[in-house]
Amino acid sequence: MSLAGRSVVSIDDLSKEEIETIFRLADEMAECPRRFWGRATAKVLATLFYEPSTRTRLSFESAMQRLGGGTITQADMSASSAAKGETLADAVRVIGKYADAIVLRHPWEGAPHLAARYAGVPVVNAGDGGHEHPTQTLCDLYTLRRKHGRLQGLSVALCGDLENGRTIHSLAFALARFGAGVYFVPGDGKDVPNYVLRRLEREYDTRVQRVGMGILTALFGAPAVAPEGAPEVNAIYMTPTAPNQLALLQEDGTRMEIRVPDSGSLALYITRYQRERDGQAGAARRAGRYPVVTRELLKVPDFEHVSILHPLPRVDELSPEVDQDERSLYFEQAGYGVPVRMALLHLLLGLEEPGPPPTWKPYERPHRSPSYSRPEGPLCQNEKCATRHEPQNAPPTFEVVEEREPVLRCLYCDQETIPTLYGRIKDKLYYPIASFRRNRPRLDNVVFFLSPAEAFNRGYAPGGPPRRGTKRHNSSRPSKGTVRA
Ligand code: NCD
Repeated sequence: MSLAGRSVVSIDDLSKEEIETIFRLADEMAECPRRFWGRATAKVLATLFYEPSTRTRLSFESAMQRLGGGTITQADMSASSAAKGETLADAVRVIGKYADAIVLRHPWEGAPHLAARYAGVPVVNAGDGGHEHPTQTLCDLYTLRRKHGRLQGLSVALCGDLENGRTIHSLAFALARFGAGVYFVPGDGKDVPNYVLRRLEREYDTRVQRVGMGILTALFGAPAVAPEGAPEVNAIYMTPTAPNQLALLQEDGTRMEIRVPDSGSLALYITRYQRERDGQAGAARRAGRYPVVTRELLKVPDFEHVSILHPLPRVDELSPEVDQDERSLYFEQAGYGVPVRMALLHLLLGLEEPGPPPTWKPYERPHRSPSYSRPEGPLCQNEKCATRHEPQNAPPTFEVVEEREPVLRCLYCDQETIPTLYGRIKDKLYYPIASFRRNRPRLDNVVFFLSPAEAFNRGYAPGGPPRRGTKRHNSSRPSKGTVRA
């Protein structure tokens, strides 16, 4: 399917083949941008940034202008109508009439999904809270591909704030799809969230295991001495199903340790501590150990041919001493933002074919299992989710992932909500979730609840196992609208 008219909300919205197409076009655009000037004449791109940005916004604007198109922006979102209480859905509906595509950065996780349902033009996610940042991933993959000639079989250590680093999450999903191995090397307390690991295992058939840090211990300064009582630093290793990565692990005593037989296939992707997401306005770096790249690190023979990437901005996790080192790729990586985003815009705006603008494709998040969305609830348990802020335009919608018991994966922010009860709509009785699998109720007759109080409040009564030969009386059914004390 052509990319024209589509939105890019998650890196999953682009197939591997589409990513390759973007890269081939970006190669041409990097080589001779002037050849593409004029392709976007009379087209307008709106950049809407509700959070700070330098690279992403300016490289999108530069990309559009290098294609000969125009850009409009709201310089200060606190001066926009959002300050008067306008919904995001209304804002993008209007801006979609002024522009042919919208690039959106927003603190709510899933906000670009919401916007892509209402805008009437393609929406590109330029970072939503701590969730995803798919176009940064395109720049990251493009840099790796140019440097190493391939993505399959590379090993990439994703280091730093893995909890809130949105670039980390999108990149991990993409690397898994391209058959690269990933090490997660978190700063203390900044582990990769479970929902990311579970999505990696579930959707990309990867294997996730905990391994000793091995050679990557050097990232914490040598020797990395754990403060008393602190947990041992472990990496999480994600391997694609193709088993070529096992060579990067060796048995050390009783556990597997990371080793680097060939540093030419290793990349370190370092990220800053996302203090703004922890409400820590002042602290540059979180207390505890945090991986850093220094000149000393690059003297270690195991890193002789490593490549160093960083989405920027950096704080103090990447020493300027290594800027001149040929292994440092981060300024090139930032520079690729222009040809990569030119290529993406070119395809989304359908500029390769002359004629009327492409038909807009309203956004639907792809999912494998059935979806669930009911006014009775539950709410997504992630307070930063767009469905918590604008439910009238983004009603909570989940994929029902059937594990031992069903888990509700939010189709906006990906986080998981775990129901403890389910109710049957037809008789308004509720049951413990543990009996879901056994009873196999039809999903269109099911409501999920997080607690008995929630079920009670919705007018549901406990429905114990039916007694043989007796007809059930529902005298304990509460009246609607009451809450159990
Ligand atoms: C990143 C972001 O905004 O998530 N920056 C970027 O887009 N290049 C990384 C960060 O802010 O740490």
